[in-house]
Amino acid sequence: MCIENLCTFAAAKCKDMSVKPIIAPSLLSADFNRLGEEIEMLNRSEADWIHLDVMDGVFVPNISFGMPVIKAVRKLAQKPLDTHLMIVQPERYIQTFKEIGCDLLTVHWEACTHLHRTIYQIKEHDMLAGVALNPHTPVSGLEDVIQDLDLVLIMSVNPGFGGQKFIPRSLHRIAELRAMIKRNKSNALIEVDGGVNADNIADIINAGADAVVAGNAVFKAENPENMIHQLKL
Ligand code: DX5
Ligand code: ZN
Repeated sequence: MCIENLCTFAAAKCKDMSVKPIIAPSLLSADFNRLGEEIEMLNRSEADWIHLDVMDGVFVPNISFGMPVIKAVRKLAQKPLDTHLMIVQPERYIQTFKEIGCDLLTVHWEACTHLHRTIYQIKEHDMLAGVALNPHTPVSGLEDVIQDLDLVLIMSVNPGFGGQKFIPRSLHRIAELRAMIKRNKSNALIEVDGGVNADNIADIINAGADAVVAGNAVFKAENPENMIHQLKL
């Protein structure tokens, strides 16, 4: 799905038309020795976005990749880049992420002292603005910015690593967020990140999610393209 179609997607959701979930495979689980081939596979597949996990070793206990890798991904990728910043002070790099070709930029609620300002800085740079919530962060903490958001990323694992187990309580959090979005007449999409697979995706979508990230489920599958097709439901 291209960014322009997102509004249509949100409108269809509001009217309860049946729309397939947005699938955003996370490159964190890809084979970095064959990164080019992995991206070509995603281009051919039914994946809607490419999820990029940026970790700084401070906000989360792991370091992943940064600007040079994203630049290289952008050259090959034919799909929107859904960038998840697990870094402290993300506002320092908003312009740079725009310049290297990111389409959606998600910052962590826990990492932003001036969250409202940061959301507007992302929008002023013509990117869609997302906020991620760690599993312990109350969903209610978004009530006063929900109308300003394009996306909320519900973390269904503690961020930092791929291949972890889905935290079941996340389903309640998705439903709570869906109710908040409706109450506030917000157009924010709900994306769920961590431990998503072919066995739990139906529950996640039924709870109210629009989009899911899938790392291990896609890249460790025997046939990743088929797995993406399965996840589309
Ligand atoms: C975790 C990352 C996720 C991760 C998902 O910190 O934000 O995007 O790569 O990987 P899986 O789907 O394997 O849990
Ligand atoms: Zn992520």
